Amino acid sequence: MADFLMVPDLGSDGLGEVLRLSADVKAEPTRYAGRLAGKRVGLFFEKPSTRTRASCEVGTVDLGAHPVVMKQDEVGLGKRETVEDVARTLDRYLDILALRVFDHQNLVGIAANAEAPVINLLSDVSHPCQALADLQTIAEHRPLEGTTVTYVGDGNNVCHSLMLAGAMSGMHVRVAAPQGYEPAADITEQATALAGSSGGSIVITNDAIEGVGGTDVVYTDVWASMGQEAEADARKALFAPFQVTEGLFSKAAADAIFLHCLPAHRDEEVVHEVIEHERSFVFDQAENRMHAFKGLLLYLAGSLA
Ligand code: CP
Ligand code: NVA
Repeated sequence: MADFLMVPDLGSDGLGEVLRLSADVKAEPTRYAGRLAGKRVGLFFEKPSTRTRASCEVGTVDLGAHPVVMKQDEVGLGKRETVEDVARTLDRYLDILALRVFDHQNLVGIAANAEAPVINLLSDVSHPCQALADLQTIAEHRPLEGTTVTYVGDGNNVCHSLMLAGAMSGMHVRVAAPQGYEPAADITEQATALAGSSGGSIVITNDAIEGVGGTDVVYTDVWASMGQEAEADARKALFAPFQVTEGLFSKAAADAIFLHCLPAHRDEEVVHEVIEHERSFVFDQAENRMHAFKGLLLYLAGSLA
């Protein structure tokens, strides 16, 4: 069974199907209640989480499956026990393994040692479940194909997944990042190739105003991700020109929307007035984490024994 470590693992048709299921389960949740009865879903967290932990747990329960939530302080992934042995053990109890880890290679190691589908709940490289909710939220406002989304800030895990998902959906994705903090070259290359097949495009710039000019969606994330706390102060000065201010937001299209995966550091990467703007949909986006996870589970369940 296929894993979901990176957005392209779904393929373009699979991504479209997950988004369709996510919208459908949001519109008619009761239709899907119990659809995963008897299944067990492991939810492991090596880092803190609010949205992912809560949305995935309730999403699992809504579909009739049983969630098993585990934290690093009890599992000791790679410390108390090897990554391989944890994977081989959990695989005996659980039908789907969903994990949030620091090192993406640990997810690859788990996937290699488990028959159950493995879902990435955030790693240093990507946050594909976030991208599902991001696209679901954008699609609630305009068709994905041909829409321009500008990610402003650190070329991080969230940025990578948005680029890949956008590129697979015929979107025009721009990233405005400080020099040295652009998205990884291999992700940019992969996203550019995917955009070439979908009619979308990828543009990377070091100029926030150029990136935001006329765009349909302005998206940002924290300047220092979990695990990078020691760099937070040094990054503040470097990232200051990339703060989403009212002035920067006004350079976007007149009906542009604002998105943020959350948690937000208000008045760092985004000012209060923009995150509270009438065209900010960050809490719809947070809600959609739950619907998108259900959509993903329903899609994966199609191939579970
Ligand atoms: N957006 C997101 O993944 O939030 P949490 O870190 O709270 O799960
Ligand atoms: N880039 C952030 C996203 C949190 C949801 C991090 O990795 O901490």
